[in-house]
Amino acid sequence: MAVKLPSVLFVTSEMAPWVKTGGLGDVAAALPASLRQAGVDIRVLIPCYPALRAAFPDARTVAELPALAPALPAARLLAAHSDGLPLLLLDCPELFNRPGNPYLDSKGQDQPDNARRFGLLSRVAARLGQPGSPLGWQPDVVHVNDWQGGLAPAFLHYEGGVASVITVHNIAFQGCFGHDMLAGLGLPGHAWRFDGVEYHNQLSFLKAGLQFATRLSTVSPTYAREIQDARFGYGLAPLLRYRADALRGILNGIDTRVWNPATDTALPHPYSADEPAAKQLNKAALQAQMGLPVTNSCPLFGVISRLTHQKGLDLLLAIADGLPALPAQLVVLGSGDKDMEAGFQTLAQRLPAHVAVQIGFDETLAHRIEAGADSFLMPSRFEPCGLNQMYSLRYGTPPVVRATGGLADTVVDCDTPSSTERGNGFRIDGDSPHALWTSLERVCRTWRDQPRWARIQQNAMRQDFSWEQPAREYIDLYREAVSVCAELQ
Ligand code: ADP
Ligand code: GLC
Repeated sequence: MAVKLPSVLFVTSEMAPWVKTGGLGDVAAALPASLRQAGVDIRVLIPCYPALRAAFPDARTVAELPALAPALPAARLLAAHSDGLPLLLLDCPELFNRPGNPYLDSKGQDQPDNARRFGLLSRVAARLGQPGSPLGWQPDVVHVNDWQGGLAPAFLHYEGGVASVITVHNIAFQGCFGHDMLAGLGLPGHAWRFDGVEYHNQLSFLKAGLQFATRLSTVSPTYAREIQDARFGYGLAPLLRYRADALRGILNGIDTRVWNPATDTALPHPYSADEPAAKQLNKAALQAQMGLPVTNSCPLFGVISRLTHQKGLDLLLAIADGLPALPAQLVVLGSGDKDMEAGFQTLAQRLPAHVAVQIGFDETLAHRIEAGADSFLMPSRFEPCGLNQMYSLRYGTPPVVRATGGLADTVVDCDTPSSTERGNGFRIDGDSPHALWTSLERVCRTWRDQPRWARIQQNAMRQDFSWEQPAREYIDLYREAVSVCAELQ
């Protein structure tokens, strides 16, 4: 007899294609769809931002939620479907009906009421996992992502309810707020403890989730080890070591329908591992689009990134004036730190024949860079998983990475002995600008040996990064969470 699969409420603060600031948006679109395909009864809970309201004008009200705590307004749940995947839109115009980025205001500062905004998301998520769920549907597991859902496991712990899982996509963002939010969000006074939701005299959503979720996961096996170490744990390493038995590293997959060079409608010239020749035409098209000289006399490096300290692109800025000497070209698409944005813009002005930069978020250009670049740069200081290196591998664009987190779990250096069969990219040996420079020289040398380059591309393009295997691992984790929770009750 088939064992029943746990039902799941998947809680996220972003979801591609409607609201995306980074990889979480992609994961929240693809993982629930894969779980649903595997037979899981799954619903996605997400704030009803303007983009979602516009995408689902016919969403119908399925629950009216009274104010659940002193600082939380009343809200509604609207039901919609995306390709058959059930969505629950958390409608609270006072908190979510704002243009732009889901976390930041127009000046790039955190929205001042983020504690209430994501406190509401967490509170409602927990409520749906408690007896008498206003939906008339109660999941077996509430699965939250990052700090924005982090209080849900705490509510489920203090008030009772179903099992919970928290996935850490980036431990650097911890959702820390003042003591006043404890009562404001409806947490009990005794939750203010070192083994409660308190963290360095603040209320931390992420710490609360890590403390109380039945099971924890992060997005690669290497990052699961790294965050237990003080160098990567951003203060949470001791708690993660304490909860190590409950923690898993599950490598993200990629949406192989959205990221497929054979069917990608953003590409002027589709291609595949079996017929890779047209990749070259995408390089010429990208050079032309970005105003670079159209030439195949040197390799073209690509970058698509949030421009933050995490991504290590300051290392690239430090050596980029050497690009003409390599020689190589560079295309950068990104946004983030204003200093780094300005640094890349002035670099492009200094080296117009070698560097082209577009500041901003542009999905179509991102696909064209993956296809048109020869090699993709990701010198991240830490990288919980990283999706762009997997997109690059699939697009035959060998990545250059630091061996950290998911980069270490996906990129095999083509120059390590015995890597002929598996080598798919380049690992930077160190975290200095010099180490990056040495890697760029190595890429250029390797690229000039075109038969060898073609082998590396083939190794990269033929890897399987689909969501099927990770979805199975999440199902195992849900089962474990349900059985641990049952034992505790
Ligand atoms: P992170 O989530 O840390 O930003 P990932 O590599 O996991 O890093 O995911 C980043 C995602 O966001 C990828 O899908 C990438 O293509 C996309 N992305 C990042 N910056 C931009 C941008 N400026 N324009 C378009 N897409 C971007
Ligand atoms: C985070 C991480 C990134 C990861 C993504 C999706 O934004 O920085 O490495 O790929 O989440 O899990």
